[in-house]
Amino acid sequence: MTLAGKQIVVGVGGGIAAFKAVELVRELQRRGAKVRVAMTASACRFVGPVTFAGLTGAPALTDLWDPRYPGEAHVELAEWADAIVVAPATANLLARAAQGMADDIVLATLSCARGPVLVAPAMHERMWRAPSTQRNVERLRADGVTLVGPVKGALANGSVGEGRMVEPNEIADAVQRALRTHDLSNSTVIVSAGPTQEDLDPVRFLSNKSSGRMGYALAAAARDRGAEVILVSGPVDLAAPSGVETLRVRSAREMQHAIDDALPRADVVIMTAAVADYRPADPKPSKIKKQGDSMSVELIKNPDILAELGKKRTGKRPVLVGFAMETNDVIAYGKKKLVEKRVDLVIANEARVAFGGDDTQATLIDHKREDTLPPMGKLELAHHILDRVKLLLGAAPGGATRNRRGRAPRAPRPVRRPRGRSRSKA
Ligand code: C5P
Repeated sequence: MTLAGKQIVVGVGGGIAAFKAVELVRELQRRGAKVRVAMTASACRFVGPVTFAGLTGAPALTDLWDPRYPGEAHVELAEWADAIVVAPATANLLARAAQGMADDIVLATLSCARGPVLVAPAMHERMWRAPSTQRNVERLRADGVTLVGPVKGALANGSVGEGRMVEPNEIADAVQRALRTHDLSNSTVIVSAGPTQEDLDPVRFLSNKSSGRMGYALAAAARDRGAEVILVSGPVDLAAPSGVETLRVRSAREMQHAIDDALPRADVVIMTAAVADYRPADPKPSKIKKQGDSMSVELIKNPDILAELGKKRTGKRPVLVGFAMETNDVIAYGKKKLVEKRVDLVIANEARVAFGGDDTQATLIDHKREDTLPPMGKLELAHHILDRVKLLLGAAPGGATRNRRGRAPRAPRPVRRPRGRSRSKA
């Protein structure tokens, strides 16, 4: 009963997936939530308000002017709701919500939400991909609305495409995540992100395609769950997340120094960064001149930051999390890394799906179990990873709710600040 005591409003939009809203209501109730329903006029064409009234024991609101609510129905409903989830959210509903329109009971309730708002879009793939829909989605995201899906799958007209509503149990998972309390508020989490750049000369370097999105999503998710977050970021094209201490680095060695400096404060280290395994043995102080038809560069090994953390850790702190991005035998390599690098959790994923985009697919491997998750957004995956981290923190001596006052004082460490590193707390 993971939503016990929570009050959820389900807003139903007018799409064929409205029938799944019935299952969503049931699923939220199964998890212990109290549910009330608001429907748009078009939703009522797909499924009857009586169905929801029967399930919830309260009338489903379909009208801003409902005479049963002498006050303002939408204000009352929004006040009651710990979270509001709109499922299905049609293109029209997204567009109107993005504009802040409030001319029906669902939109008006959304516009005075006091807690998290989630929307589960469902529509034809072309409608979903339409620039106007994407613009509206971006707007809603920027306003703090959580998008749940859509996913690729069978659509109402028999075609297959991206636009299918996420299944009710996954929407309920997302609601649960959105309502999660500050369950990491006693923890400090170091997250590394992005690629490293290893100089060949003052104008050239070796690097990789890592976008940094996974690490930035993890940093934001950990922050939202109350953790103190130190983000050690290689060069990426992403803004520093607000409320996160962001340390910018370039090379693997700079990243290692930054992490080592922050380590005494850390309860968790999550190495999302795609750290270069090798660097040029002899970076030149001036630009390398063009030579014959070929040239070779000697490379030497970089420190394996994560493996060294695993090696020098004596107890169970900090909890260590690594990523294993491979092009083949992803899970087998993931398991190998878990043991070889002496870490607590490995997120194994395939380079093709993991690099660059907003979505990814991963298997979470620890010493007890292995969970292959469905494809999902990086922020959602970040929360799954943190759920696991939370369990690992709980398993470590001191527990998840360890109080800093109970910690033995540590000697202050000298702060080494390598060249080129900058610090910001946005
Ligand atoms: O061995 P491999 O590079 O595949 O391991 C990936 C994991 O190890 C990632 O978590 C990455 O951040 C970390 N790593 C590291 N230092 C390196 C190479 C990888 O910490 N030099």
